Amino acid sequence: MSSYTLKVNGQAMNVEAAPDTPLLWVLRDHLNLVGTKFGCGMGLCGACTVHVGGEAVRSCQLPVSTLGARPITTVEGLDPEGASAVQDAWDEVDVPQCGYCQAGQMMSASALLAKTPKPSDAEIDGAMAGNLCRCGTYSRIRAAVHLAAAKTASV
Ligand code: FES
Ligand code: FES
Repeated sequence: MSSYTLKVNGQAMNVEAAPDTPLLWVLRDHLNLVGTKFGCGMGLCGACTVHVGGEAVRSCQLPVSTLGARPITTVEGLDPEGASAVQDAWDEVDVPQCGYCQAGQMMSASALLAKTPKPSDAEIDGAMAGNLCRCGTYSRIRAAVHLAAAKTASV
């Protein structure tokens, strides 16, 4: 076991974990931030997507020992009220079916919009390609990303 101080959702958080513990399990088991989901555990589905240093990354593939001081944002940290432009758009478009993949989808979408405020369909599809949805909500995801972009632009 080693001690780590992680900056999660704007707060310094101390954890004791083996160095190879994936960030996903640190978030879920040590910090009780269970919005981030386990899907494949192999970097293939995107259910575990969070932001590290502003990049959308697969937390199941990131050992806690590699994180350093880079800020980490989970779906719980997107907005204090759960009302970021992306979350509001997801709600309005009624994107989720079972919902399991959607935290990861919203994290990839918000990272995309931070860099590309008005993405094209092709840019959305490219940015979201690593986030799988077994319920097939892809067309609603694309519509919600466009709506979130419009909401952000009008603020
Ligand atoms: S659980 Fe991490 S990519 Fe599937
Ligand atoms: S909404 Fe069910 S897996 Fe995406």
